[in-house]
Amino acid sequence: MAKKIVVASGKGGVGKSSVTVGLAKALAKRGKSVLIIDCDTLCSIDMFLGVGEEIVYNWGDVILKRCDAENAIYNADGVSMMTCPKSYNGVSVVKMKWLLSVLDERFDYIFLDSPAGVDLGFILACNVSDRGIVVSTPDPVCVRSACAAADEMRKYSVTDVRLIINRLKKSELRRRKILDIDTVIDKTEVQLIGVVPEDDKILHSTMGGSIYKRGQVSYRAFNNIASRIEGESIFLYF
Ligand SMILES: Nc1ncnc2c1ncn2[C@@H]1O[C@H](COP(=O)(O)OP(=O)(O)OP(=O)(O)O)[C@@H](O)[C@H]1O
Ligand SMILES: [Mg+2]
Repeated sequence: MAKKIVVASGKGGVGKSSVTVGLAKALAKRGKSVLIIDCDTLCSIDMFLGVGEEIVYNWGDVILKRCDAENAIYNADGVSMMTCPKSYNGVSVVKMKWLLSVLDERFDYIFLDSPAGVDLGFILACNVSDRGIVVSTPDPVCVRSACAAADEMRKYSVTDVRLIINRLKKSELRRRKILDIDTVIDKTEVQLIGVVPEDDKILHSTMGGSIYKRGQVSYRAFNNIASRIEGESIFLYF
């Protein structure tokens, strides 16, 4: 049975999809079978994984019986993904649960990449997840919405919610231009599972950069968070 992890943030553009791809690749490198289900109708996981041109079917097609699940799964660098339909028409929590029951035995991990906000895409993702990751950048606006998203997750019985602080810039931390790690943890009221530094290669990932590659500043961060997801105790590095 797969561990099902919803990745959400409240506020948009904080790095949910990038972090999802980085973690999926880090877990795949450890030999795990990993599926990402893009729950955002604006779809970005296919581009971050470099399979955008291949997409024919999405998971909505599976739910609406237009194809089998295998037809809507695409693979890149050992990670599988399903893209989101352009609208949630015909989709319900019951049908989403059916989709996950079809996929459950095939993977070790299923990540559900939520859209921004706490509306339908988020609700669908939470209803089929047992764990949650809330992503926040170290600024007060993101932190407040991350706290709200974590609260909402718990309402849907996502009991094990952890925090990833993304895009941390050490130089700004030293100059006190951003919230420090302890303050972000206190204000989100979520237990930290890792910190991902600002990494230009992630920023340029769809233009020849890479989200997960040895030598990049974020590579070790993704590996460490993947280890913690697997239950290992790894010292905080950033
Ligand atoms: N650690 C990082 N360092 C540098 N750039 C990053 C980092 N994480 C994410 N980004 C960049 O931030 C932008 C937004 O990232 P992403 O699309 O993953 O956010 P999101 O939270 O999924 O957005 P949305 O709410 O629209 O789904 C992208 O251009 C991405 O490359
Ligand atoms: Mg996204």
